[in-house]
Amino acid sequence: MTGWLDGYVALITGGGTGIGRAVAERYLSEGASVAIVGRNLHQLEKVVAESSAPARMVALTADVRSSEQLHDAVNNTVAHFGKLDTLVTNAGLWDYQRQLTRLTAQELSDTFDELFAVNVKGYLLAAEAAWPELVKSRGSIIMTLSNASFYVNGGGPVYTASKHACLGLMRELAYELAPKVRVNGVACGGMNTDLRGPESLSMKERSISASFAKRGPDTPPPPLPLRDSSTEPKDFTGPYVLLASKEQSGPITGEAISIDGGMGVRGFSSDAGGNHL
Ligand SMILES: NC(=O)c1ccc[n+]([C@@H]2O[C@H](COP(=O)([O-])OP(=O)(O)OC[C@H]3O[C@@H](n4cnc5c(N)ncnc54)[C@H](O)[C@@H]3O)[C@@H](O)[C@H]2O)c1
Repeated sequence: MTGWLDGYVALITGGGTGIGRAVAERYLSEGASVAIVGRNLHQLEKVVAESSAPARMVALTADVRSSEQLHDAVNNTVAHFGKLDTLVTNAGLWDYQRQLTRLTAQELSDTFDELFAVNVKGYLLAAEAAWPELVKSRGSIIMTLSNASFYVNGGGPVYTASKHACLGLMRELAYELAPKVRVNGVACGGMNTDLRGPESLSMKERSISASFAKRGPDTPPPPLPLRDSSTEPKDFTGPYVLLASKEQSGPITGEAISIDGGMGVRGFSSDAGGNHL
């Protein structure tokens, strides 16, 4: 095997679905061993069985709101594979762009607590559980960020604030864990995944995949310079490989790679400048 991550060991929260699962599969194909962490053991074990290298994958349960369960997940990863090189903090919820003016005070309060507990506290608790092992391996943390870490309207105020918070968390930890551990982010744009909403808004069973399924040939493309780019999670995995690899990105820390169809270079009067080409 000659991959960019030969011999690496990674732990991915929310690794049983969506971009987490796609990164897990890509890491396997690059030679790594991977622990996928989520809440549903049966579903995670199915993912392992269906993977390209079940012998290099393990399913572990943890709710990312529980420090104790995350410590167990890190310990079990090390027990299985001998070390931990890469922590991907990724488990998350979306608020389906519910705007402030469409939230009651109670909904806002409950949604904030629920969403921040997963999207922000879940990342921080995972980093706390993993840093001693990452110091030993001179490893790194990669956080799944979002276009909502930089721009408005990719979420409502709660999601946007949570993803901005993760950007700050990524930068702070990059400082605090240097020089031994690198910390970076991948700011994904819209992907066709199973991303769910908060229970507080009765959106637990709502999946972002439904909005992709509704898209037909007459649906206008997203207003992005690269409006034809893929929305399949597997096509967003490259930066996760790059940032995990010491050999390829050893001097990079505190950086976010945006993979969002060029949201940051949208034009003023038209989204793309090369429409005539
Ligand atoms: N789908 C998009 O368009 C998009 C865009 C930008 C960023 N993101 C981010 O990508 C990340 C992954 O989301 P996805 O789109 O792959 O959706 P997804 O729902 O497929 O993956 C999220 C995973 O997190 C898990 N999870 C949720 N709460 C958890 C908890 N308390 N404990 C443990 N696991 C929990 C879910 O079970 C799921 O497996 C999220 O951080 C999301 O904010 C998604």
